[in-house]
Amino acid sequence: MKRILIALLIAVFSVPTFADEGMWIPMLLKRNEADMQQKGMKISADDIYSINQACLKDAIVLFGSGCTGEFVSDQGLLFTNHHCGYSFIARNSTLEHNYLANGFWAKSFEEEIPCVGLTVTRLVRMEDVTEQVLKGVEDKMSEAERENVIAANIKAVTKKATEGTHYSAIIKPFYYGNQYFMYVNEVFTDVRMVGTPPSNIGKFGGDTDNWMWPRHTGDFSVFRVYAGKDNKPADYSADNVPYKPLQHLTISLKGVEENDFTFVFGYPGTTNRYATSQAVDLAANVTNPVRIDLRTIRLNHYNNAMNQDAAQRLKYSSKVASIANGWKKWQGESLGINRLDGVEKKQEFEKRFQQWANNNPMYKDVLPSMEKNYAILKSIELNNTYFNEAVRASDFMGRAATLLTLANTTNDSLIEARKNAFIKHNETYFKDFDKHSIVDRAIFIETFTYMCKAGFGGFVANKDVDIATIEEMLGKIYDKSVLTSEKNIMKLLANYKAKDAKKILKDPAVELYQLAYENLLPASSRKEYSKVTKEINRLYRLYVKGMMEMDANNVSFPDANLTLRVAYGHVKGFAPKDGVYYKPYTTLEGIIEKENPDIYDYVVEPRLKELYNTRDYGQYANAKGELPVAFIATNHTTGGNSGSPVLNANGELIGLNFDRCWEGTMSDLLFDPNYCRNITLDIRYCLFIIDKYAGATNLINELTISK
Ligand code: ARG
Ligand code: GLU
Repeated sequence: MKRILIALLIAVFSVPTFADEGMWIPMLLKRNEADMQQKGMKISADDIYSINQACLKDAIVLFGSGCTGEFVSDQGLLFTNHHCGYSFIARNSTLEHNYLANGFWAKSFEEEIPCVGLTVTRLVRMEDVTEQVLKGVEDKMSEAERENVIAANIKAVTKKATEGTHYSAIIKPFYYGNQYFMYVNEVFTDVRMVGTPPSNIGKFGGDTDNWMWPRHTGDFSVFRVYAGKDNKPADYSADNVPYKPLQHLTISLKGVEENDFTFVFGYPGTTNRYATSQAVDLAANVTNPVRIDLRTIRLNHYNNAMNQDAAQRLKYSSKVASIANGWKKWQGESLGINRLDGVEKKQEFEKRFQQWANNNPMYKDVLPSMEKNYAILKSIELNNTYFNEAVRASDFMGRAATLLTLANTTNDSLIEARKNAFIKHNETYFKDFDKHSIVDRAIFIETFTYMCKAGFGGFVANKDVDIATIEEMLGKIYDKSVLTSEKNIMKLLANYKAKDAKKILKDPAVELYQLAYENLLPASSRKEYSKVTKEINRLYRLYVKGMMEMDANNVSFPDANLTLRVAYGHVKGFAPKDGVYYKPYTTLEGIIEKENPDIYDYVVEPRLKELYNTRDYGQYANAKGELPVAFIATNHTTGGNSGSPVLNANGELIGLNFDRCWEGTMSDLLFDPNYCRNITLDIRYCLFIIDKYAGATNLINELTISK
């Protein structure tokens, strides 16, 4: 432990400036303060994170379980991305009140709509608890023993930290368990929908523009956190009142210029900065290509259906957004890794590490063992991929899995609950089933066939069986299963008891699902998987520790793990390819340029065009009289940073982070300052939409705006 601390300290004091890469721990930001100030920041590390005074941290929240949000008024008003609020907006929408399509603006507190299941988490404080968590851990312990000791310590430490409070606490490993931090949180459960632009604005450009620059998406939505009369979290009640945050952000309308300092404060989810060459190769060249192909199949069918009518668009839009998001990101990631010779770069580093490790018995075997373990992991991971992306691609197989769970349930009250949940699901599932089954059946058949052709799944043992026969067989399974007949499934479930399990197990869909599962992920490989991933984690723990000892500069920041981080950089354009230069900001002009009434993603609202025609931008125009929409910068971000505030040198809100540029999506594995850019919605466009477009001046009046 001591050696790592020394290594960390050396890292801190010997590196005066940091690269653009990095997601820094707010509590330790003093280490970056000089660098940040040298790069343009005018506030202090304490203004960003402090436990002694209200600070920016108090305005930042985890929105739901995978996005960031920020308080912008003293009445708990919260900004986040449109795509972060999406599922709640969709859930509150019907064809009659289609807020997703038409937007929604509450004109009073009473009109705000409760969002069941949505939570907002505020960090109260964080603490380095490495010593307490690793107490009693010894080098000679097995991983299992080590885990037990750590789990017990974590339980005790979190219990003590929250005793007698309404807080909850979570402890997370950093650097693969070389360090541990505790986060004491306050979780709010009464969150209400306040405003959202129509999809034409909030999702302008749709999945076509997703991950791309130049970008013109008005990706924001507005919520409000409610609390009990004591300002503490309380479950939904009509008596709750708007929460009074300790701090809310001041909004600046001054905007930014190329090279201006900016920082992003939020909850990045996952990165793999220290991944070995095998890990990078596995993602970029083995699993990504399969996932991409299988998702292409699904997307083609859904998009086709969505283009047919509004009901199908509403039905599939949430699902398609999430399928398409990974699909496109992985394409950019694989291209980016290979453009950078990412695998070779990692191999070069590994060679140097091995030379060093040869004289350090503790680390000598780390990389050779990694290689062995990754070889095993590779084949299991590929089977995993086929299972998740092919076998589970259709609703048909998803429902077969649920039915199988019911058949395997022996506890009577659990059977009742699961049965009733299934019956409830049937009610909505069979609405418009004629249309849905065409899409779902095709997805089922095509993804399975793709897998068979690739030689996976194993249940088509005979290579001579031709594809047409397989397709026919799959079609029969789809049509014969109880799952696609409302009458038959209801008959099976109506009086279902434990003894009827056999009937479920005989269903062809359930049989197929089980067969596929056992072929792809038999018990032996599930066991192996858990063993190998544990071992790989142990090896990374050593590897990263070794890297630090070899040269403290090798290890700068810990991988993202959905804890609060600060990334900083500059507004900057870039050259995505030969002969092309991307300017760092876009304007309303680009929306008009992209307009195409025939393509759903590029329809421009008439009201927006009116405002454009009269150039009625008010205080939201820049010095040139343009209305800025989005900008890019070198801040290192990842999924989870969506909705994060992007702040200027004074710590004022200038935008909402919502994406990365496609050419730089390999930054989760390898950051390249020439290509990696985060994409931010300019706050001036956001306020323009609220104010000029929607006329929701009640919201504008709540904000603190510095001009
Ligand atoms: N790419 C962004 C992110 O990773 C936005 C995703 C939502 N938008 C969409 N068109 N699917 O979350
Ligand atoms: N849109 C992403 C999110 O939901 C952020 C983009 C990224 O991955 O950087 O968090």
